[in-house]
Amino acid sequence: MKRRDFIKSAGLVAAGSALGAHGASAETMFHLTGEPDDGLNSIRLPIRALNPVVDKPVSVIIIGAGNRGKTYARYAEMFPEGMKVVGVSDILDHRLKYLSDKHGVAEDMRFGHFREVFASGKKLADAVVISTPDDRHYEPCMKALSLGYDVLLEKPVAQTEKECKAILAQAKKYGRIVAVCHVLRYAPYFLALREVLRSGAIGEIVSIQHMEPIQYAHMAHSYVRGNWRSSTETTPIILAKSCHDLDMLRWLINKPCKSIVADGGLHLFKAENAPEGAPMRCTDGCPHEATCPYSALDIYTRQKVHLGVFDLNGSKDTDLILQRLKDPAYSSYARCVYHCDNDQPDHYVAEMVFEGGETAAFSMEAFSPRGGRRTRVMGTIGFIEGDGTSFTVTDFRTRKQRVWNLKVSDIPEYKGSGHGGGDLALARDFIEAVAHQDPSRLSSTIDVSIESHVMGFAAERSRKTGRKEKVKV
Ligand SMILES: NC(=O)c1ccc[n+]([C@@H]2O[C@H](COP(=O)([O-])OP(=O)(O)OC[C@H]3O[C@@H](n4cnc5c(N)ncnc54)[C@H](O)[C@@H]3O)[C@@H](O)[C@H]2O)c1
Repeated sequence: MKRRDFIKSAGLVAAGSALGAHGASAETMFHLTGEPDDGLNSIRLPIRALNPVVDKPVSVIIIGAGNRGKTYARYAEMFPEGMKVVGVSDILDHRLKYLSDKHGVAEDMRFGHFREVFASGKKLADAVVISTPDDRHYEPCMKALSLGYDVLLEKPVAQTEKECKAILAQAKKYGRIVAVCHVLRYAPYFLALREVLRSGAIGEIVSIQHMEPIQYAHMAHSYVRGNWRSSTETTPIILAKSCHDLDMLRWLINKPCKSIVADGGLHLFKAENAPEGAPMRCTDGCPHEATCPYSALDIYTRQKVHLGVFDLNGSKDTDLILQRLKDPAYSSYARCVYHCDNDQPDHYVAEMVFEGGETAAFSMEAFSPRGGRRTRVMGTIGFIEGDGTSFTVTDFRTRKQRVWNLKVSDIPEYKGSGHGGGDLALARDFIEAVAHQDPSRLSSTIDVSIESHVMGFAAERSRKTGRKEKVKV
């Protein structure tokens, strides 16, 4: 689709600089649909093509060649002039080989455990991407900073507030850049929402309602059977899943959070709720398999979703998936959702008060048919309601409504960039920040990302104690 056509189909009018493949340094003006007769005429958005503005490629070692490691490595495939993967580390041989081969990584730059990357005590690249599991962020990040690497660090930053603050201090001590993967900050939808708020279109922000529907099958996959099922081995779900949302609320309101009170728990996915006769695994002839919405056979072999964990390299072959479900390396995904070693809440609410008295009500919900964050912003002269892809702005003075509905899938330059376009836009900004040694190109440096993590730890304390917690950064 040509640029002009996609903008037309998206119901938008663009002016100013082009969004085209070579418009990397441009910003783009968008008008919302509706009559631009008062206040809100246009939004200037830093939506830029994904190609980086650099003189030479930034060399990177990927630590953790799983789902997220591969996501950021893709940026090097798309833009070899900007990023080169010169090293890979993973404790799983097949993942190490797959990503290393894909990027032509030299034998002596293929590492197993991340400690091998740092064993020589020398800096082997410009930057590292840390995309290991949550409990393996702190150690490699501290070490990388001490050796002079800049770091692209997956969220959550670390498992405790103390470790998060230590990483911040280490980054300052060694004068390095740490970009935290709060990818939603780089997604056009959220950028547009923030710009509309900053334009004063709805007056002062008084309060926000924000909901994160996880979606029932995603919950079962990631937070009951999968990698993030244990709040102690990884991080509490308010960080593991919702640090994006706390960060978003802080970013939209643009003031520090002063206090937080939280509640919620694990309602369904526990042994006492197992239907009679349910075996330990869905693959063991469960009598309830055909009617259970959380059946592993249904999710993986019929719906064929969440297959990324099975190392299928794009295949959706049913027999291969069944084989993986029986393979001990992947078989936790075949477990009955009522017979897992999980403790993450399936419903979680938090109320926050910000510095100017603004309030935010957050709700994370497992039991929803689809994902897609829903947000309502209440302002003194207007209201915004959005669903993660489009939002409507209502002006109380004119009672007119305007709509933002630019679909990321319609922006050719953002094709294949997950998290509403945010994944690869973050990769671009990180590469530029490293190349120019300019952290201001990032909107999620460690300095600003720490705050939402402190909010998350305070929320979890409140959920466990029932007390309102002060948020002190
Ligand atoms: N920004 C986001 O929106 C987002 C989305 C999903 C996941 N994440 C975070 O990204 C991180 C990675 O998640 P993922 O989905 O890619 O997980 P994953 O399991 O797919 O990948 C992690 C990889 O790290 C490897 N690994 C484990 N220990 C290691 C070690 N000691 N040394 C080297 N490699 C090691 C594993 O073998 C695995 O291949 C997690 O912290 C997760 O919370 C962030």
